[in-house]
Amino acid sequence: LIPIWLDHDCGHDDSFAMLLAFHTPIFKILGVSSIHGNQTVDKTTINALTTLEIIGKSNCGVDVVKGVRSPMCRPEQVCSEIHGESGLDCPTAELPKPTQLAITDRPAIQVMYERISKFYTENQEKQKVTIVATGSLTNVALLFVVYPQIKSMVEVSLLGGAINFGNISPAAEYNILVDPEAAKVVFESGVKVVMVPLECSHKALVNEKILERISSIEKVNGGEEESQFIKIIKGLLLFFAENYKSIFGFDHPPLHDPLAVAYLIDPTIFTCKLMRVDIETSSHLCLGRTVVDLFGMSKLQKNVHVCTDIDVDKFWDAMISSIERCYNH
Ligand code: BDR
Ligand code: CA
Repeated sequence: LIPIWLDHDCGHDDSFAMLLAFHTPIFKILGVSSIHGNQTVDKTTINALTTLEIIGKSNCGVDVVKGVRSPMCRPEQVCSEIHGESGLDCPTAELPKPTQLAITDRPAIQVMYERISKFYTENQEKQKVTIVATGSLTNVALLFVVYPQIKSMVEVSLLGGAINFGNISPAAEYNILVDPEAAKVVFESGVKVVMVPLECSHKALVNEKILERISSIEKVNGGEEESQFIKIIKGLLLFFAENYKSIFGFDHPPLHDPLAVAYLIDPTIFTCKLMRVDIETSSHLCLGRTVVDLFGMSKLQKNVHVCTDIDVDKFWDAMISSIERCYNH
């Protein structure tokens, strides 16, 4: 089993990242932490708990821990335009109410440190824990700053950044721009970082063929009426699609976050190259840019495994299989 910790700002695509992780039977999930980003941390915490209900994994022994409320040095921002007021809006289907409570009385990084270091010290093979980060990187950066000894016990697989273009400014991707100082700490930490950028996620589009594959899960299993689970899954994707259409003009929305999980399921889904990546933290126009040294011009040490391309079919096979397993669960 691959030990992982999920850290995210649970919106629509984060929810699918959870589904993929919880319903691919190769992971040992040590915990889930929430972070500000798509919405306030209060809302993303609830969304993580709601997602556990949707995917049939509440009270399965995996805790959700509430992370920090704001970036390290900057004011908080949210993304209601894409994820709605709740952060997980789904106008066409009613989402279940959480039955599990989040841990809120202790800092998330304290719980992360305890659980991850316990796992690491108790496993004979000294298998490292991968933090799958699909929101802003504030929790992860604080974890590295407050508990530097954790750095030898973890790796990071993150969805964020871009090689060429941004999605919140012309130069920057959302998760990095929300807390660029945190991203800088993580990218310069010396910890193995895998970065899945927009160039890959913008190929993982939820088109009609994908929606049809999701609908057919039910048909294969003899369902006559659409189950609440499939209604929710499709409802979330349709809400996401409408916003991507109206804001970016995309015909189909990119399902970003599960890609950071997919890398761990099968790295050959991606083409990946170790490169130097730095985070811009002071420019006005380029704040939050992941400056990727494609041609090796920097003398600085290569620090990030950048995914430059994706085998889209392989990704969707993994994602659809997890939805199928969840449906049959
Ligand atoms: C990232 O931004 C968030 O809105 C999504 O959940 C994803 O993590 C894409 O830029
Ligand atoms: Ca996210």
